[in-house]
Amino acid sequence: MNDRIAELRAAGEAAVAAATTTDELEALRVQHLGRKAELPNLLRNVSDLPPEQRGVVGKAANQARQALQTALDARIAELKDAELDAQLAADRVDVTLPGRSEPVGGLHLLTRTRRDIEDIFLGLGFDIVEGPETETVHYNFDALNHAPNHPARDRADTFYLAPSPNVPGEDLQRVLRTHTSPMQVRTMEANEPPIAVIVPGRVYRPDSDATHTPQFHQVEGLWIDVDVTLADLKGVLLSFARSIFGDEREIRLRPHFFPFTEPSVEIDVSCFQCSGRGHLRNGSRCGLCKGTGWIEILGSGMVDPNVLLAVGAVRGDDAYDPEKVQGFAFGMGIERIAMLRYGVPDLRLLYENDVRLLEQFA
Ligand code: DAH
Repeated sequence: MNDRIAELRAAGEAAVAAATTTDELEALRVQHLGRKAELPNLLRNVSDLPPEQRGVVGKAANQARQALQTALDARIAELKDAELDAQLAADRVDVTLPGRSEPVGGLHLLTRTRRDIEDIFLGLGFDIVEGPETETVHYNFDALNHAPNHPARDRADTFYLAPSPNVPGEDLQRVLRTHTSPMQVRTMEANEPPIAVIVPGRVYRPDSDATHTPQFHQVEGLWIDVDVTLADLKGVLLSFARSIFGDEREIRLRPHFFPFTEPSVEIDVSCFQCSGRGHLRNGSRCGLCKGTGWIEILGSGMVDPNVLLAVGAVRGDDAYDPEKVQGFAFGMGIERIAMLRYGVPDLRLLYENDVRLLEQFA
């Protein structure tokens, strides 16, 4: 009987030593120490043996069982460590590798253009202010020196709002602002000179075609001080044009008319497709500037004294006395700048939210 126990123990120990995985060891535990295994059964049946054998056999079987159990536990611990090490090595994550995810998005061309414009003027010392998108006729037209019969006031050119029953005593005629220029007046009313601000924001006009949408964006600019001249206007806008369209650009001032500036000019930038020559290398006419070498980018001018006087009337002081201060204003369409810059042929593309347009410039 003792020989058989020694045999079982030796066989078990050999199998345990030879096992290479914890799964194998689990199987060996069942095979050698489980309910149906020979050794535990021997132990269980010790009471059936003649009394003089019980002690010897019971002790040997018990020792064999314990030895096997210990060997199994030790080997399992050993293999578990090794398996963990192997798994850690295999699953290693190099946190210093660059990410592999797809880009999740980007800024819309209009947002990018607006931010770039803002950065340029911040760099030139301008502040950024914003104003209301619903505006009174007073700020949108009257205070900006529009004659009572100015065509822009026409209902075909301006969205008029129904008087709001929610605002008690509200009898002012309101519009969706047609430009950001009203903020010139609001800013001067609320602040002492000197002033240098830009005003980005949404504006509205009842137009809809390849170059007009009923809602679009402008950036207004205003610089007022005691000695701001047309030369400053040119210097600031040249610097702007070069920042947006390239260091080689020139600008020209073309006489124009706006009610709130005098003199008024339109600013053209030299064409960045043909370098202002009006024709391409192969001799054909440049389509971007239509052969002129120049592209219109914004309206501008010296602030009309009538605008300063209207501000003074509301303020009740002489801070904006046109004999004491002067300055220039300008206004540009963000869509136009973005279309020129990115070569977008139809304004409506900017509003279709087709990711293929946005991805091209990611
Ligand atoms: N408000 C004008 C428009 O919407 C643009 C403009 C022109 C703004 C001349 C100005 C300016 O400040 O001086 O067409």
